[in-house]
Amino acid sequence: MSGSERRLVALTGIKPTGAPHIGNLLGAILPALALTRTYQGIYFIADYHALTTEHDGDALRESTRQVAATWLAMGLDTEKNIFFRQSDIPEVCELSWVLSCFVGVGQLQRAHAYKDAVAKGKEATQGLFSYPVLMAADILLYESNVVPVGKDQKQHVEMCRQMAHRVNETYGEGTLVVPEPLIREEVATVPGLDGQKMSKSYGNTVEIFLPPKKLRKKLMKIVTGSEALEDPKDPDRCNVVKLFRLFAEEADVAEMERRYRAGGFGYGEAKQKLFEVYDAFIAPHRERYEELLAHPEVIEEELAKGKEKARVVAGRVMERLRKRAGLR
Ligand code: ADP
Ligand code: TRP
Repeated sequence: MSGSERRLVALTGIKPTGAPHIGNLLGAILPALALTRTYQGIYFIADYHALTTEHDGDALRESTRQVAATWLAMGLDTEKNIFFRQSDIPEVCELSWVLSCFVGVGQLQRAHAYKDAVAKGKEATQGLFSYPVLMAADILLYESNVVPVGKDQKQHVEMCRQMAHRVNETYGEGTLVVPEPLIREEVATVPGLDGQKMSKSYGNTVEIFLPPKKLRKKLMKIVTGSEALEDPKDPDRCNVVKLFRLFAEEADVAEMERRYRAGGFGYGEAKQKLFEVYDAFIAPHRERYEELLAHPEVIEEELAKGKEKARVVAGRVMERLRKRAGLR
């Protein structure tokens, strides 16, 4: 690729809500890392968005570090991509205000997150109400071409596109780059300890970087059938096998399935095998993760580097928009 060719940009935000789990790893982190082979990744930690639910400053700081360390430890290349903290670029709030003048209240009232909060009788803040506007600002501030997200975020990206179109109709084509959603193909839903979808809200998660002892203890809690050791067992209905399939080699999976059907193979042994295969996969990354958390200044340096790069794009986009809108 020549220097003048600009790679297409894939941008996504990651809400810092505590230590990420294996569901996040397989469902979001690894697919986003794979995309950086084709696109320039602009990935950021959406701490302003987290503020809609997290009002403990220390907890937010801690989550931000954990999430940043996770992406770095899993191998995000911060030379080729841009990795930063949302609140490091205040222009996003400025753009958010401009966009809020291009979206109807009725449309924001139809956004899922706001509708759900109202349906549950929760008090919705102005922040939750304008969540999609801030998200649109994130996307448009960095001239994103594609926005890789899960299905749950599709509506937000559609709203972003509409805001961008309205701005372009008003101030001229090319004022903002209109992005396309890139809806993640249904990766297998990772089951949690109880067999339901692994999710923080169900309290059934396995955090990615648990130290070996804790990891083993956690995996031993996976809910299984209560057949006796000698009984044959159905691998397709077992939560241990479902997780094992996600990390083990095909031949090892086939062997485990065979032993389930044959009987004389207990759930304890299956869990031990799962522990061994996941631990071997994660060990080198865990070492890096722990090193990063022990040196938060290294994480901050990485984010500062990302901030410098993000500012250049954000500055250019805001310059163009302010001029056309008659601001400053
Ligand atoms: P949680 O449900 O634990 O709050 P999030 O909603 O913060 O997780 O998840 C962030 C992203 O991680 C989601 O958009 C989704 O793509 C992915 N993800 C979360 N849980 C799973 C899972 N159990 N299986 C596959 N992907 C998942
Ligand atoms: N709203 C997204 C979520 O809850 C996070 C997010 C914030 C985001 N800004 C974004 C995702 C911009 C994609 C693009 O997961």
